[in-house]
Amino acid sequence: MIPESFKQDLLNRVDIVDVVSRYVQLKKGGANFMGLCPFHTEKSPSFTVSPAKQFYHCFGCGQHGNAIGFLMAYAGMGYVDAVKDLAAGAGLTVPEDTSRQRPKEERDREQDLYALMERAMEFYRAELKKSDKAIAYLKGRGLSGEIAARFRIGYAPDDWQGLKGAFADYDNRALVDAGLVIATEGKRYDRFRDRVMFPILNARGATIGFGGRVMGEGEPKYLNSPETALFEKGRELYGLVQAREAMRNSSRVLVVEGYMDVVALAQFGVGNAVATLGTATTPTHVGKLLRLAEEIVFCFDGDAAGRKAAWRALEVSLPLALDHKPLRFLFLPEGDDPDSYVRNHGKEAFERLAGESQTLSGFLLGELRADNDLATPEGRSRFLAAAKPHLEKIAAKGFRLQLVKEVAQLAHVSQDEAEQLLGMRSTSTYKHPAPARVQASPPPSLESKLLRVLLIQPKLTAELDLELFDQNLPEGRAVAALAVRCRISESGESLTQAGLIEAFANSPHAESLNRARASLLEIEMSEEVAAQEFRQIHIQRRIERIDQELPRLSGVELARRLQEQAELKNQRA
Ligand code: GTP
Ligand code: MN
Repeated sequence: MIPESFKQDLLNRVDIVDVVSRYVQLKKGGANFMGLCPFHTEKSPSFTVSPAKQFYHCFGCGQHGNAIGFLMAYAGMGYVDAVKDLAAGAGLTVPEDTSRQRPKEERDREQDLYALMERAMEFYRAELKKSDKAIAYLKGRGLSGEIAARFRIGYAPDDWQGLKGAFADYDNRALVDAGLVIATEGKRYDRFRDRVMFPILNARGATIGFGGRVMGEGEPKYLNSPETALFEKGRELYGLVQAREAMRNSSRVLVVEGYMDVVALAQFGVGNAVATLGTATTPTHVGKLLRLAEEIVFCFDGDAAGRKAAWRALEVSLPLALDHKPLRFLFLPEGDDPDSYVRNHGKEAFERLAGESQTLSGFLLGELRADNDLATPEGRSRFLAAAKPHLEKIAAKGFRLQLVKEVAQLAHVSQDEAEQLLGMRSTSTYKHPAPARVQASPPPSLESKLLRVLLIQPKLTAELDLELFDQNLPEGRAVAALAVRCRISESGESLTQAGLIEAFANSPHAESLNRARASLLEIEMSEEVAAQEFRQIHIQRRIERIDQELPRLSGVELARRLQEQAELKNQRA
C-alpha cells in the first residue's frame, strides 16, 4: 500500500501538463491546455488539462482524472505502476509499506531473473547476426532487419549448452528458474536450441519469456518458456509494447493467434496487433486491452478451430464488454492466417476486413440463430433459452438492453415478454425479497468468498488474478464485473461497498452482490483480514489448479509443478 501522504506529495510535485504532454500534443488556450482526446476519436479538441486544478477532462467523452488516473487510463498501468512511474520522473522513491512487503530475497531474486532474461535476449540477438541459416529463414518469411530488431528477434544456437556463451556461471540455479536451462539428473542443457527466438516483453518492455520456432520441420513448432516468477501466460500479450503507438493512433487493437502474425502484420504496416501466447483469450487479456484501446478486433482463422477459439473469446468478453467500446470478430478465409493474408493481399485489404468484421452481437446472435430455426415456435423458444445465459453475463446495461431488443424481435415476442422470460425484470423482481431458504446451503465457493472480500476491500481488485476464477458461477462473473469497474475507475480507491452495490443495482450481478453483502452482516471482517483472506483464496485455487494438471504431466514439468504446489501449501495459513 502506498501511503496517502506520499500520493499527495507526489501529486504536488508533478505537473499534469508535463505528464499528459508526453503522450498528447497540447496547446495553450486561456488558463488551460487543449488537445485531441486520446480516449476517443475526434477532429476538434475537447480534451482539456488544467494546470491550476491538476486535472484533465474531456468534454467529448467525459474521461477525467488526475495525473495518476491519466497514466492508468492512457498507458494501461496499474495504480502502483502509475505512482512509481510518476515518482521516478519526479526523483522520488515510493516508500515501501513494510506490512505488505515481500521478503527482500524474493524481490532480489526477481530482479536477478529480469537481468538474466535481458542478457539471454541480447545473446540470442547477437547469435542471429552470426547465423546465415536463421537470417535466411527470416528473410524467407519476408521480414526486414528493421522489423527483426523492433521485435528483438534472435536465434538460439544449435548447441546443448549454447548459453554458456552468455553466462559464465552456467550452473546458476536462476537459469533454471528463468526457464532458460533444463536440469535433470545432474545434467543441464539449454531449453532452446536451433530455434528462432521471439522474446516476450511485459508492459514495461522487460523480457519475461521466449517463444522459439523451429526452422523447417520439427516438433514442437513453437517451444515457449514455461511459466516462471516473471511470466504468466494468461496475463501477457505478445507485441503489446511494440503495438502501443499504433493502437493509440488507430484506437483499435487486433488480437491474433501467433507470434508470426504480429510480426508479419507489423512488417506490412499494421502495427496495432498483439497475440495471446498459445493460450485461449483470458479475462485478464480482455480487461487489459479494454483499458488501452477503443475497439478490440479478435482475429481468428476461418476454420472450425478458429470459430471455437472465437466463441471462447466471446464468452470471456461478455461480462467485460463496455457500452462504449465495441468488440469485434474477424474471420479470415479458410486456409489463411493474418500473416499469409496480409502478405498476399496487403495492408488495405486487411484493414478493410478488420473494419467490416462482425460485431460481438452479430457473432453471438448469428451462432444462436444457426442452431435454432426461427421459423417455428419451438425453434424460437429454444433460441430464447439459448440466449439467456449469454445475456445474463453482460454487465454493460445499454449493451444488454440492445441485445434483449434484438433477441425479442427475432423470437417474435415483445421486449417486455423477453425480459420476463429472460428473468431480467430487475427493478420489479428485486422489490420482493425471495422467501427465506429452508434448505441447508452448500459451503460457499471460493468465488463467493472472494466476492465478499472484494466488497470489504474493493482496492484488492488491482491484484486479482481473474483467470483463476470460474466465470460459470454467478459470483465469478460478479467478481469479473467488479474488477473491470474498479480498474476503469480512477484509482480504485474511491469505490466503496455502497457505491458498488449501487452501481450494479440493475445489473445481472445485483443478486450475487446482495447475497455477498447479506452474508457480511453476520461476520466482522477488518480490511486487513480481508486482504489476508484474498491471498489465501488465490493460494487455495492455485493449489487446486495444479491438482487438476498433475495427471497430464510427467518428468521435469511434473516435478516443477509439484514443487510449486508444495511451496503454495507452505504459504497456506
Ligand atoms: P507460423 O507457422 O510460423 O506461421 O506460425 P503461426 O503463428 O501461423 O502458428 P500457428 O497458427 O500454428 O500457432 C499459433 C500460436 O500457437 C503460435 O504463435 C504459438 O504461440 C502457439 N503454438 C503453435 N504451435 C505450437 C506448439 O507446437 N507448441 C506450443 N506450445 N505452442 C504452439
Ligand atoms: Mn502462420
